[in-house]
Amino acid sequence: MKPLVVANWKMQLGDEDAVATARELAGAPPEHAEVVLCPSFTALAGVAAAITNSSVLLGAQDCAWQERGAFTGGVSPADLRALGCRYVIVGHSERRQHFGETDAMIGVKVRAALGAGLQPILCVGETLEERTLRQREAVLTRQLDILRGVEIIGTARLCIAYEPIWAIGTGHAATPEDVAQAHAFIADSVREHMGAAAEHLRILYGGSVDPTNIAAFLTVPRVDGVLVGTASQTAARLRNLVAAAGRE
Ligand code: PGA
Repeated sequence: MKPLVVANWKMQLGDEDAVATARELAGAPPEHAEVVLCPSFTALAGVAAAITNSSVLLGAQDCAWQERGAFTGGVSPADLRALGCRYVIVGHSERRQHFGETDAMIGVKVRAALGAGLQPILCVGETLEERTLRQREAVLTRQLDILRGVEIIGTARLCIAYEPIWAIGTGHAATPEDVAQAHAFIADSVREHMGAAAEHLRILYGGSVDPTNIAAFLTVPRVDGVLVGTASQTAARLRNLVAAAGRE
C-alpha cells in the first residue's frame, strides 16, 4: 500500500494560495504516495474543485461532533463529506492547546466523523515535559482510551497520527527508534480497545517531517504514512517531500 502523506496547511495559506497549490499538485499528482490536502475550511470547496479527477484527496482540519443543530461556528462532518472530504484531522495538539479540546470532545468527534463516512486522523502525543518524565505511554493510553467501543463499520477506516508535541514545528523530529516504539504501543492499545476493527488502522508519524527524514520514517515498522505541516505548504515542497519518500 502506498504511504499516506497528509498535508496539514493549518491557517498558513490564504484561500487563493491554497487553491493554486492544489491545482499545481493535481496537474501532476505524486505517484509514490496517497496525498491528502487539508486546507482551511474556507478553502475546502476551491481545493475540492482544483483536485477533481486527480488522485489527490481532500481532508479537513477539524469538525464538530454534532450533525445538525444550534452550534454557532460548528462545521458538520456530514457537510465536509458532502463537500468531498475523505479525511478529517481530529484532536491535533494545537486544538487541544489553543481551543481547549478535551479527550472527551475528541472521542465524540471521532465517532461523528466515522458516522458521516469520513476517515478520522486522530492525533496523539506527549509534551516535552511528559517525555522527560517518561510518561509517554501513560499519555498515549489516556488519549487512546476514547477508542474503547468505537465501531468501524463497512469500509470505514481510522488513522492515528503519533505527533509528539515537542517535535511539531521545531525542526527536531523524533528518532525512528522513538517512533517505532510509540507506533508499536499504539497498535497494541488500539487492538486491545477495538479488537478486529483495528485491523485496517493506519498509523502516521508527524512532527518536523521533511525531505531529509521522510524515507527513514517510512521504513519503520507500523509507519503507514506521515502528517506534515511546514514541509507541505507549497506545491514544490510537497512534491520534494513525496519524491524523497519514494527513494527509500
Ligand atoms: P510540522 O507540523 O510538520 O510543521 O512539524 C506537523 C503537524 O502539526 O501536524
